Amino acid sequence: MKHLLDIGDLDAAAIVHLLDLTDHMVEINRRPMPKVPALRGKTVVNLFFEDSTRTRTSFDTAARRLSADVMNFAVSSSSVNKGESLRDTIETITAMGVDAFVVRHSSSGAPTLITRWTNASIVNAGDGWHQHPTQALLDCYTIRTALQRPTGFDGLRIAIVGDVKHSRVARSDVQAFTALGAHVTLVAPPTLLPPDTSGWPVDVSHDLDALLPDLDVVYLLRMQRERMRDALVPSLREYTARYGLTPERAARLAPHALVMHPGPMNRGVEMAVDPAELPGSVVLQQVTNGVAVRMAVLFELLGSGSDLPADTETGTRP
Ligand code: NCD
Repeated sequence: MKHLLDIGDLDAAAIVHLLDLTDHMVEINRRPMPKVPALRGKTVVNLFFEDSTRTRTSFDTAARRLSADVMNFAVSSSSVNKGESLRDTIETITAMGVDAFVVRHSSSGAPTLITRWTNASIVNAGDGWHQHPTQALLDCYTIRTALQRPTGFDGLRIAIVGDVKHSRVARSDVQAFTALGAHVTLVAPPTLLPPDTSGWPVDVSHDLDALLPDLDVVYLLRMQRERMRDALVPSLREYTARYGLTPERAARLAPHALVMHPGPMNRGVEMAVDPAELPGSVVLQQVTNGVAVRMAVLFELLGSGSDLPADTETGTRP
């Protein structure tokens, strides 16, 4: 694997392979000194053209735990603001000697375009409405560990609720969850669904209440108000009344059901309950797992495969 651009490029076996590798990274992260020399001498550049705190710091932490050198380019302080083109930015940084770019961009397809201008590996950290493959992997990892499904999601019922239309997380998660065998239902008002979902391997519903008791996972999406040009819901209060996770709805979930959210969360809108008070909430596990999944991806792209230090207890290598 040279790049990670689109979760659709990975089949079920490739996803499971990365999740297995993530198990080893979780073990490393639990050590008193959570750092290994696997990517010593490699340079990873975080190039974020869109605001992000959690994804950028997650990639940053992941690269450092593998001992890579990390450069962070925030676009607000870069020459992009002096009119430099994306191509010139990439070629200039490549000339400094770089092994991977982690790219977030508001335009769909930007990470794929960049592969033409550099020989470094590209990791898509979110492009427009299109893809967010490491989010899909960390979500799969979180479900797999929390529901003890090491080999696949056959029979799992997952609802993805809310602003599907603007969501690269929804597009990526649908592909990954269904590749692993889950049954996915999109739940949203018609204005927050893509215009045509006929090619999507999902069911569509406008009635969250009817589905609740049968769900294994309820995945709430952020209302992406910065991407909306028009008012797509009458009011946020009305949205919450029909599609938000209220205390009454949370009480109707099965005892084992998981509640997930990619963050950042609009408290009181998608979630009208405090996730800390929900037994099924794995929102913080998603964040923790994000670091381990990104370590696995960087190691897969840049590691030689043999230099991941052995598990101190079992002596096994991935
Ligand atoms: C997601 C994103 O940026 O696509 N968040 C994230 O990666 N932390 C989801 C979102 O912004 O709603």
